[in-house]
Amino acid sequence: MKLQTRLQTTERIESNKIDNHTDQIKLAYGIEQLEPYKPTSSIDIISQKTEMKHYKLDWNEATILPSPKVMKAISEYLNGINHLNWYPEILSHSLRKKLEKYTTVPSDNIIVTNGSDDALELINKVFVNPGDQVIVPIPTYTHFYVYAGQRNAEILKIESPDVFKTNLDGILSAITDKTKLIYIVNPNNPTGVMYNETQVREILEFAPQAIVIIDEAYYEFAGISMAHLVKEYKNIVVTRTFSKSFGLAAQRVGYLMASSFIVENCLKVFNPKSVNRVGQIAAEAALDDIEHLDAYVRSVTESKRMLKRYFLSKGLDFKITPANYVMVHHPMMPELVKLLEEEGVYVRDRSGQLANYMRMSVGTIEQTEEVISIFEKVLELLKIQERENLN
Ligand SMILES: Cc1ncc(COP(=O)(O)O)c(C=O)c1O
Repeated sequence: MKLQTRLQTTERIESNKIDNHTDQIKLAYGIEQLEPYKPTSSIDIISQKTEMKHYKLDWNEATILPSPKVMKAISEYLNGINHLNWYPEILSHSLRKKLEKYTTVPSDNIIVTNGSDDALELINKVFVNPGDQVIVPIPTYTHFYVYAGQRNAEILKIESPDVFKTNLDGILSAITDKTKLIYIVNPNNPTGVMYNETQVREILEFAPQAIVIIDEAYYEFAGISMAHLVKEYKNIVVTRTFSKSFGLAAQRVGYLMASSFIVENCLKVFNPKSVNRVGQIAAEAALDDIEHLDAYVRSVTESKRMLKRYFLSKGLDFKITPANYVMVHHPMMPELVKLLEEEGVYVRDRSGQLANYMRMSVGTIEQTEEVISIFEKVLELLKIQERENLN
């Protein structure tokens, strides 16, 4: 047989083998009907259009690099006697000590995870059985559905009569004996809605059989936390991340805070080496430079004031959230997002969750001045488009 034909035959046999095998392999319970989480990020476009300036405002990340102390710690580690050949520090012991100081929650009640997504997955894995009810006020951070869906839970999506207000009654009236998990993002992504301590206590007390997750991914911007409730309630889990205000999204470091009961059970299945060493070093150094964090948060807060003034002056419908993003409403939503993108401003069209709304991360004052001037240009272009559509 000639080489060419032999190769073709082998390829055919290989592909048949794969087809046969996939026919025989049965998926785990619940996976088949799972909707994959399909994130779209502007990173691909940005890396291709290197000639222009970009504002990556689509994923609520920090718009500046982490503290110079972080950069120094990482480069000292990589350039010094690094131990990339060793596994990372087990259970992030020294980072947990620093987190104890930062959060005032004892280090034994903290688990450092591979991003806070990992913490969300862990809680689902440890507490949710097929058929259990998981309550999720919507719209919210949709990646969570993958973790609850993977456990084959029944996800009860609670819609609020006003999406920009809390819906305590909606949550309380959805709670049954089968409720195992309640997921509250505080402040919520994308609406910015926040439940206060009295409301959180009410939920915790109304559902003692359920774990209540308070996702504080945007805590540093909002400045309000429920972490102290971990000392009082057995059923609360507070999750946080280094991905947002600390500017370490690429390093994948997050953490959860919870009662000893929850932590001890989570540690039965948690992989103690799942947080990478460079991430651990970076997160520790970030906690050593709280001034950097505070300065960034102050700048974002001032930027939100600037945006509020600007949107008001344009007569736009918008929401300034307690987090590092704002929501903007416009009747020509896909066009607005597209025009901004052409000018190098990447935002997230949230029309799928909230009609005609987009979400935009907020950066420093200087960045916001530039973003506002691009916005101005784009709004003018939209007016022209609108007139053309009418003619
Ligand atoms: C509410 C919320 N929780 C969790 C995450 C994931 O954060 P991490 O990078 O820590 O996995 C995000 C990311 O956008 C988020 O918005």
